Amino acid sequence: MIQDLSYERLLETSKRVNWRLEDIIGDDKPMDFSKPFLPESFARTAPLDFLTRTERLKLNQIRAFGYLAMFELVERCILPIIEDLAPSKPGQDPHRRPALVQFAAEEAKHIELFVRFRRAFVETFDVSCGFIGPAEDIGAAIRAHSQLGLALFVLGIEWSTQRHYVESVLDDEELDPQFKSLLKHHWLEESQHAKLDALVFYELAARASSEQIDQAVEDFLDIGAFLDGGLAEQVQLDLASLEEAIGRTLSVVERGAFVQNQHQAMRWTFLGSVMTNEGFLKAVEQVSPDGRARLESVAPAFC
Ligand SMILES: [Fe+2]
Ligand SMILES: [Fe+2]
Repeated sequence: MIQDLSYERLLETSKRVNWRLEDIIGDDKPMDFSKPFLPESFARTAPLDFLTRTERLKLNQIRAFGYLAMFELVERCILPIIEDLAPSKPGQDPHRRPALVQFAAEEAKHIELFVRFRRAFVETFDVSCGFIGPAEDIGAAIRAHSQLGLALFVLGIEWSTQRHYVESVLDDEELDPQFKSLLKHHWLEESQHAKLDALVFYELAARASSEQIDQAVEDFLDIGAFLDGGLAEQVQLDLASLEEAIGRTLSVVERGAFVQNQHQAMRWTFLGSVMTNEGFLKAVEQVSPDGRARLESVAPAFC
């Protein structure tokens, strides 16, 4: 795949697919709160049969809020990583730096997109939903890993948005068109980032020892485990938001079922959907077939 990629071509495509925030969100494009926002494959509310249909819809929307907040958090964490990688050395491809600068500018725009969606959500939704943080501390803990591990993490995040878009568009005609549009437009640019980040990952891997490559895979898994701890906390916040939104308290048994089901749903959304993504795994395999096997051996816990 690497021979098909060049910074020049990726930069050109990036400029072509680039969209403006005002085309995606604004007062003339409200979200429709009578519809679900997240695809059921990610929200997984159907098994919670102790919730009414309306209550499951509320949960879907609470999860969508968490989705926006999580992407905002992750992209805030990623931005300094890209900015660190952008300066290019003499002799490197002259299009490398402009392509990475464009990449960083798009991530900054995505952060603003998520902020605006989140604001629009808060203005209409019945209760204020909690979210884990502070984002700066989570970002700093993630960025404490090796540069190659971080490049792998960024690559995984880029690829995750593909599945979010494909599953929302292909499976689900019920979803709010505004949220679908968010998923679609995000993926349009992320699909270029995934290719660009693959180039950076290959470039760093070419200079790394096999121990450093093994370490990068372990760093990726370590970041995943760290985020998984955050997801467990987020499930408790979502439970509190749901109980407030539906005006009733769940029983102990129902809460237990909620926590188990929703933690696994979030694991799939943010971790499993990455670790089973063929595009991502192919990029890992190109550098380390053992690394791919390692990720595939861990993935079922997050599916
Ligand atoms: Fe993004
Ligand atoms: Fe991205």
